[in-house]
Amino acid sequence: MSQVVLEARELSKTFASGAERIAVFSGLSVELAEGQSLALVGRSGSGKSTLLNVFCGLERPDTGVLALLGERFDYREPETAGQAEKRWARLRRRRIGVVFQEANLMPALSLLDNVRLRARLAQQPLDQCQAWLERLGIGELAERYPDQVSGGQRQRAALAMVFAMNPDLILADEPTGSLDRRTAEEVTAELFRLQAQTGVALILATHDPELAEQCGMTLDLAHGAPAGQAR
Ligand SMILES: Nc1ncnc2c1ncn2[C@@H]1O[C@H](COP(=O)(O)OP(=O)(O)O)[C@@H](O)[C@H]1O
Ligand SMILES: [Mg+2]
Repeated sequence: MSQVVLEARELSKTFASGAERIAVFSGLSVELAEGQSLALVGRSGSGKSTLLNVFCGLERPDTGVLALLGERFDYREPETAGQAEKRWARLRRRRIGVVFQEANLMPALSLLDNVRLRARLAQQPLDQCQAWLERLGIGELAERYPDQVSGGQRQRAALAMVFAMNPDLILADEPTGSLDRRTAEEVTAELFRLQAQTGVALILATHDPELAEQCGMTLDLAHGAPAGQAR
């Protein structure tokens, strides 16, 4: 039985809109184990990014319980914001890798130094960083700076950074949304290949049905109460 990485129970989130509050999701429950992949789908504005932000502690849901990687956040109870933030910061530094639509590399560092910085923050050995760039097919670009490579190559470097952390969970928010179709497919193939090889759990927000199909489970945020469906 593989280990549960993330368990969300009855999460709800609203945003203020003038005097009203708009529900982004309510009563949302989902579970993800080691090696599993979950696609968050739904039209623009359906709450995919908000949910990913909840899963890495950058947004606080109004209520619900979230257990991940040995930590438990009970949003039904008040918790000193500083305490929760410390626990979240540690998880993001060490165990949760986040990939955004645009690779957020440090412009003043080479691709290799970007990967090394990320590995160092996660307290991982630095001697694998070059190998991660090679596994992503950009080993020969290690000494280049982010502005000296293409968007697809930057996104490959962002993936190398995340895998070099040896994370337990990867959260990817439209990770190929800024790439042309062909490049997006290549980068996506690398992501799924390495996810299968490493056994890391993956949650991927996408509005692309073909990309979502490659995940083992889907959670549709556009259609009321979402249901995770196992393949
Ligand atoms: N900080 C915020 N304040 C108010 N409303 C927000 C905020 N962030 C997101 N929203 C709203 O929440 C809804 C979900 O947004 P988002 O999670 O970005 O959707 P998606 O990623 O699926 O496009 C949208 O209606 C958006 O306008
Ligand atoms: Mg979004």
